[in-house]
Amino acid sequence: MSQTHVLHRSLRQTPPVAVRGQGAWVYDSAGRAYLDGSGGAAVSCLGHNHPDIQAAMHAQIDALAYAHTSFFTTEVAEQLADRLVADAPAGISHAYFVSGGSEAVEAALKMARQYFVEIGQPERRHIVARRQSYHGNTLGALAVGGNAWRRAQFAPLLIEVEHVSPCYAYRDQREGESAEQYGERLALELEQTFERLGPGTVMAFVAEPVVGATAGAVTAVPGYFRRIREVCDRHGVLLIADEVMCGMGRTGTLYAVEQEGVTPDLITIAKGLGGGYQPIGAVMAQQRVVGAMQQGSGFFQHGHTYLGHAVACAASLAVQDVIRRDGLLARVREQGAGLRARLEHALGAHPHVGDIRGRGLFMGVELVRDRASKQTFDPALSLHARIKREAMARGLMVYPMGGTIDGRHGDHVLLAPPFIVTEDELDQLTERLAGAIDAAIEQARA
Ligand SMILES: Cc1ncc(COP(=O)(O)O)c(C=O)c1O
Repeated sequence: MSQTHVLHRSLRQTPPVAVRGQGAWVYDSAGRAYLDGSGGAAVSCLGHNHPDIQAAMHAQIDALAYAHTSFFTTEVAEQLADRLVADAPAGISHAYFVSGGSEAVEAALKMARQYFVEIGQPERRHIVARRQSYHGNTLGALAVGGNAWRRAQFAPLLIEVEHVSPCYAYRDQREGESAEQYGERLALELEQTFERLGPGTVMAFVAEPVVGATAGAVTAVPGYFRRIREVCDRHGVLLIADEVMCGMGRTGTLYAVEQEGVTPDLITIAKGLGGGYQPIGAVMAQQRVVGAMQQGSGFFQHGHTYLGHAVACAASLAVQDVIRRDGLLARVREQGAGLRARLEHALGAHPHVGDIRGRGLFMGVELVRDRASKQTFDPALSLHARIKREAMARGLMVYPMGGTIDGRHGDHVLLAPPFIVTEDELDQLTERLAGAIDAAIEQARA
């Protein structure tokens, strides 16, 4: 290819040119096929070129592509909000449509702040979040995230956010400590953090129900989120569940928190909401929060040009229709169990696989130098980058990342295949992944 004028993610390498997609496969201009084992970054929940989504988008484009939300609403935005609210945890009453995950997180933070201003508690300004989490790359969302590497060089630009421990049982649950005691210890840490920051000064606690990109499909221990909810309630703090990656069916229920038995005050969603057919995200908000703004100033002091974009809403509504019509949440649970079984069979006894974890079609594999001590590979080896290269060479897309433990040490691979993935494709995914891991480790050792 001639010299590129696109500022790519890597300034040293131009990636292959994607020209076509079909189901769980992406094809490049050289005719190579890649099995989409990660849905890009946990986005393509229905795979590529789904005819029903394309038809819905075509119909919307023919009727009206865009109308600014300060002048109009659209039928598709209304229908999508109705659908998402009907299926949401109790009390969630409204959807605020933006164009992606970071925008959703920014909007949620501002909504939390405005809520407290509206109800006469303007001294609530602190945000607490967890280390080893990712909430987006815009400055507010980056500040909230606990990914040390992503934050480091931008630290002078970031608002102050307090970070507490993640719920990461494989690494942090102590010997002799039950899952319940571990969850209790973390809830106590959160409570002490709220107290240290000062009574009545914390506005929100932000957490991913299943940690995605930074730690690799880390689920919380049972009861953790219920305890966290209690602590937030005791201190009048809003709980913001960031489901940008783990939500919209990825873990087998439409909202990941359903499986934790708690109701957040705000939920951010994106990625699987539009399945990659259009850029779209949303904040799902409790009536209590929206009501405070309704009865107070009467508006949410925020906004972007592309809020509630009609084609994005049409695509997203079609994605949600297909998930419901085709019973895909049950399929995620079934195929997820199949993926886990395959990974355990292929990698469960691997000397360099420390943990296989996740929920539904959202799975993580953590690599270690030594299983007994859980010691990690030398970060200088960039094992995760080698795995990605080796996987691509085998025609497989996966989402590996380094810095699993502290932003520097540790490597994992995140898997998030489309909900329509077949048994045969799961076989290929597992086989190619195992080959890529072995080849990468061999190289790293050489
Ligand atoms: C949990 C979570 N929140 C927010 C974001 C940011 O979303 P976006 O990349 O669409 O801005 C991501 C992206 O990976 C994410 O995983």
